[in-house]
Amino acid sequence: MCLVLTLTLGCDGAAVLPRQSIASTAGTGAQSIVSLWKSVSNPLPSSSGTVPDLTVTGNYYTTPKSPNPLLRSTGILAKRLTFLYGTPLAGGPYFPTGVLGFEKVAADVAYIEATEFPPVLAGTLLDDTQATADYSKYNDLETVADYTKLYSNECRNQLPSGPAPGAETNYTEDLFFSMERLSNSPYQVRRLNPTSDTLAFTIADNIAQNLTGRTLNQLFQAGRLFYADYRDQGELTRTDRYAAACDAYFYIDPSSAKFLPLAIRSNYGANLIYTPADDAADWILAKIVFNVNDFWFAQWNHLAATHEVVQIAYMAAIRTLSEEHPVQAMLNRLMFEVFAVQPLAQTVLFDPGAAVDLTFAYTGQAAQDYSTDYYQNKGSGRFVDNYFQTDLQRRGLINCTYGPALSHFPFYEDGTVIWNAINTFMTSFVQSYYSSDSAVDADSELQAWAKEANGPAEAIDFPTSISSRSTLIATLTHFAHLVSISHHTVNTNELLSLSSTLPFHPTALYAPLPTIKGNTSVVDFLPPFDKVLEQLTLTALFARPQFVGTNRTLMHMFDDQAMLGKMNAQTRSAASAFMSSMQAFSSQVSGRTFGSDGLSQGMPFIWQALDPNVAPFSLTT
Ligand SMILES: *[C@@H]1O[C@H](CO)[C@@H](O)[C@H](O)[C@H]1NC(C)=O
Ligand SMILES: *[C@@H]1O[C@H](CO)[C@@H](O)[C@H](O)[C@H]1NC(C)=O
Ligand SMILES: *[C@@H]1O[C@H](CO)[C@@H](O)[C@H](O)[C@H]1NC(C)=O
Ligand SMILES: *[C@@H]1O[C@H](CO)[C@@H](O)[C@H](O)[C@H]1NC(C)=O
Ligand SMILES: *[C@@H]1O[C@H](CO)[C@@H](O)[C@H](O)[C@H]1NC(C)=O
Ligand SMILES: [Fe+2]
Repeated sequence: MCLVLTLTLGCDGAAVLPRQSIASTAGTGAQSIVSLWKSVSNPLPSSSGTVPDLTVTGNYYTTPKSPNPLLRSTGILAKRLTFLYGTPLAGGPYFPTGVLGFEKVAADVAYIEATEFPPVLAGTLLDDTQATADYSKYNDLETVADYTKLYSNECRNQLPSGPAPGAETNYTEDLFFSMERLSNSPYQVRRLNPTSDTLAFTIADNIAQNLTGRTLNQLFQAGRLFYADYRDQGELTRTDRYAAACDAYFYIDPSSAKFLPLAIRSNYGANLIYTPADDAADWILAKIVFNVNDFWFAQWNHLAATHEVVQIAYMAAIRTLSEEHPVQAMLNRLMFEVFAVQPLAQTVLFDPGAAVDLTFAYTGQAAQDYSTDYYQNKGSGRFVDNYFQTDLQRRGLINCTYGPALSHFPFYEDGTVIWNAINTFMTSFVQSYYSSDSAVDADSELQAWAKEANGPAEAIDFPTSISSRSTLIATLTHFAHLVSISHHTVNTNELLSLSSTLPFHPTALYAPLPTIKGNTSVVDFLPPFDKVLEQLTLTALFARPQFVGTNRTLMHMFDDQAMLGKMNAQTRSAASAFMSSMQAFSSQVSGRTFGSDGLSQGMPFIWQALDPNVAPFSLTT
């Protein structure tokens, strides 16, 4: 890490780092992705006028019944006049505009560029240079197994401990593939309800019976059948790479109680349906084909489901809550750098010729449209409806009344520990400022926030009023959940360490899908070396190993001395209790090993994405 920091201070990226390129084309795409990253700037036209002074003048945050009401409403009015709803950027909801809007976006972009990107860019470029120099190690990527060599003592700046243990040794296990739906990519799979769902496709009874001891319909009737559906990717605009539009069944095995894959249908070309009864090569290809669709969904949905949901609710808060308000102070902390992301998504990912066009099977414009469709029309933009337990229960993953419980659910297990700690903190915080529900109801600024969010901001499914302590606690807990648990499960360090690890998770296929089974060479579908470097570079830019052990991690979520100094003793004590509980959880997560069965949390890999001493406290890119 020191090496990285030293280099960073002395250089400005690609130009000064040596490149010992083997293949002449290798690395050019990787470098261009880095260049895009460096070119991000405030996208808004600078507008003239006076930026309101947002300095908190009092010694303590106060709710609006307190002194100085005139000053307070003048401050809010100044924000309302200068922080405006502008055209969406990179899709989704409104993006800030106006003098204050410009100022806030510019500040977030400038901060992220000055403090966060330099070590990330330097680490990524060093890794890229090293990977290129070590080309002879990879045996020309002639076999699928050669792709695991890409991680042997590689990527060590942006991935200091290497890939998630098991990711490069156990990826052929069916349990590896299925348990990813319950850990690092948990937002698509749902249990089928025999009273309200129908089967999208069938597989022969004797095949299902051979694999599971039951027919497909028997599994379905018993509430043991699960489904993931990516058919909506079939119509997207393609690049010159390939992808299918899979849907797939998973099931809880009647004898082992394990959650396993049962069938994958490609919905593309010959529309083959694969099962574990197929040849090994066909079946692993089917899982890779599914993973391409899954990665697409996980990434473009996360923009809609986390960044954009909190962005618009926060914008409504800025226009209605005084900067003196403790809730505004809390949101200011949780929304750290929030406005830097859409400009970055536009420039680095979605623009013509940018990273999506370079590395995915569909275009950058398709990615943006797909993301916005999930935000606006497919439920990801909804606030209350996506509360942690509400979402999981709706999908039949917890508290299911018509089928057996999952024996392991790592996303829920780890998420619950953190969610409970956040909720406990928010309960103390809210109770310390509001002695009753009627005190919340009497807070005119909170009422204005809910009205604004549901009115001009057009936030989706935000609470229609915030008139009880429990509603305020739930609202704030969900903000904190989205910026931490929800986001870092599918993004940040997790991309490079697990969900885009090769050979199992390419961002696109490099050959058209087979039209028959039994003639499959899996390696033909995997990226060539220059595309490998692009995928590694792109995902490395999202990693934040530099945060480990610093006050940017989750355990420091409320450890903002400037904020706590203006809060009450009860909140300060809740913040330190949060930190202790997260420290304890970090010890548990970082100490995970494989059991004698070769599993951790019921999975053949070790999942540590939510270690509170590693994952950030806020949204990152
Ligand atoms: C079921 O398994 C048996 C033995 O394991 C095998 O001979 C048979 O072909 C299988 N049937 C199907 C439909 O896969
Ligand atoms: C769901 O189940 C958990 C235990 O797994 C329980 O603690 C929780 O109260 C249940 N929630 C609901 C809404 O029933
Ligand atoms: C079998 O695969 C090879 C390439 O891997 C291809 O050239 C050939 O056409 C395939 N055969 C059939 C019958 O599809
Ligand atoms: C981290 O700590 C440093 C030094 O105390 C401080 O300047 C900085 O604002 C803190 N960062 C965050 C995000 O709290
Ligand atoms: C997974 O990989 C680890 C080594 O990386 C090994 O110890 C463990 O036994 C493997 N688990 C299974 C189920 O193969
Ligand atoms: Fe993100």
